[in-house]
Amino acid sequence: MGHTSDEWRKVVNAIEESIPLYESISERISFNLAGPLRRRAISNLSPDHEEWVLDSGAGPGVSSRLLISQGFAKVAGLDPSGKLLQFAKANLGPEFNPVVGVAESLPFKDDAFIGTLTCFALRDVRELGPTLREFSRVVKGAGHLSIVDVGKPDGVSRRTLVGLYVRFGMPILSIERANAWWPSSHGSRPEG
Ligand SMILES: C[S@@+](CC[C@H](N)C(=O)[O-])C[C@H]1O[C@@H](n2cnc3c(N)ncnc32)[C@H](O)[C@@H]1O
Repeated sequence: MGHTSDEWRKVVNAIEESIPLYESISERISFNLAGPLRRRAISNLSPDHEEWVLDSGAGPGVSSRLLISQGFAKVAGLDPSGKLLQFAKANLGPEFNPVVGVAESLPFKDDAFIGTLTCFALRDVRELGPTLREFSRVVKGAGHLSIVDVGKPDGVSRRTLVGLYVRFGMPILSIERANAWWPSSHGSRPEG
C-alpha cells in the first residue's frame, strides 16, 4: 500500500529541512555506500551522453551532480518540491533542468529520454505501478532505468535487522551528524 498524502508530505518536508546536511547524512546512514551506488547506477544508464536523461526524485541534486560530472549534458531533474529543485539549480550548471512534478504522472512525451535514474526516491512515490509504467513510457526502447534504493531482504531475521536499523539506527546517526554540524555560534539547537 502507498503512503497517505499526510505521510508523503511529511517525508518531503523532512527532506527539505535536511538540505544543508542531506548528502553527508545519506553517506553516513548508508555507511558510505550511497555515492558508489549512485555512480554504478549512472554507469549502467547509457554511453550516449548527448541525449536527455531523467533524474526522478532529484531532490537537492546529489545524483544530478554526478550525472553531469560523468558527462551527461541534458539532465531533467524531476521532483515535487520546488524548494529542493531551487537548491539543486543554484548549485548545478545549465545542464540541470528542474521540473516540478511526480513520477506517477510524468510531464514528458513518450520516448523523451535515453535513460532514467531514480536514487533513494522510488520508495517515496505514492503509487509504484503507475510510476513504473511512466518510466517505461518516457524511456526509449534501447534505454535503461537505473534504480538505487533500500531493499527488504528475504530472510525474516535479516529483514528484522534492516527494519530495526531503518527505524532506530538511521535516526540516531542522522541526529548525531546534525548535532556535530550545528555551528557553536548558533548556541543550543531549537527543540522539536
Ligand atoms: C531521499 S530523496 C533522494 C534525492 C536524490 N535522488 C538522491 O539521490 O539523493 C527522495 C526524493 O524523492 C522525492 N519524491 C517524493 N515523492 C515523489 C514522487 N511521487 N515522484 C518523484 N519524486 C518524489 C522527494 O521530494 C525527494 O526529493
